[in-house]
Amino acid sequence: MFSEKIQKGLKKQLIRELESSQLYLSMASWSEYKGFEGICEFLYNHSNEERNHMLKLMRYINKRGGYAAIFPYENLHFYEKSYSYNSLKELFQKLFEHEIKISSEINILVELSLQEKDYFTYNFLQWYVEKQIEEENLSKSILSKIELIGDEKLGLYLFDRDLDKKF
Ligand code: FEO
Repeated sequence: MFSEKIQKGLKKQLIRELESSQLYLSMASWSEYKGFEGICEFLYNHSNEERNHMLKLMRYINKRGGYAAIFPYENLHFYEKSYSYNSLKELFQKLFEHEIKISSEINILVELSLQEKDYFTYNFLQWYVEKQIEEENLSKSILSKIELIGDEKLGLYLFDRDLDKKF
């Protein structure tokens, strides 16, 4: 039984993954603009991964007989509403906090799937649980490195050069 409650929860998560993709994209563009070639590649790739997380949800909802409708972005042409960053540290801090938020939303969905006795969805969500363990860990480790490097130029240069190869 694919309940309305579950569908609503999964559709909300679909939007969150789309927002994640957009957030990573904004970070990639900012890093590219600032000349961080490795960091921007890593973030562009991750933006694509987030889009894939969204697609996986879309296909699951449709396969179960729901309809994952997509709505147009309203604010894309308002430049004053764009994301902004003052430093790499701030950027990776936001990224880490974002992943923590996504993890807690996934946990709420897992809980809901158990309450609704929807074991297909429970099973489906385990992939997201695993992903969130990886992503929290990854963003935390990047943030720690950035904090360690501080403003040291050689450290930043090496970090930027190696990031896309390491992760
Ligand atoms: Fe799709 Fe970074 O969570």
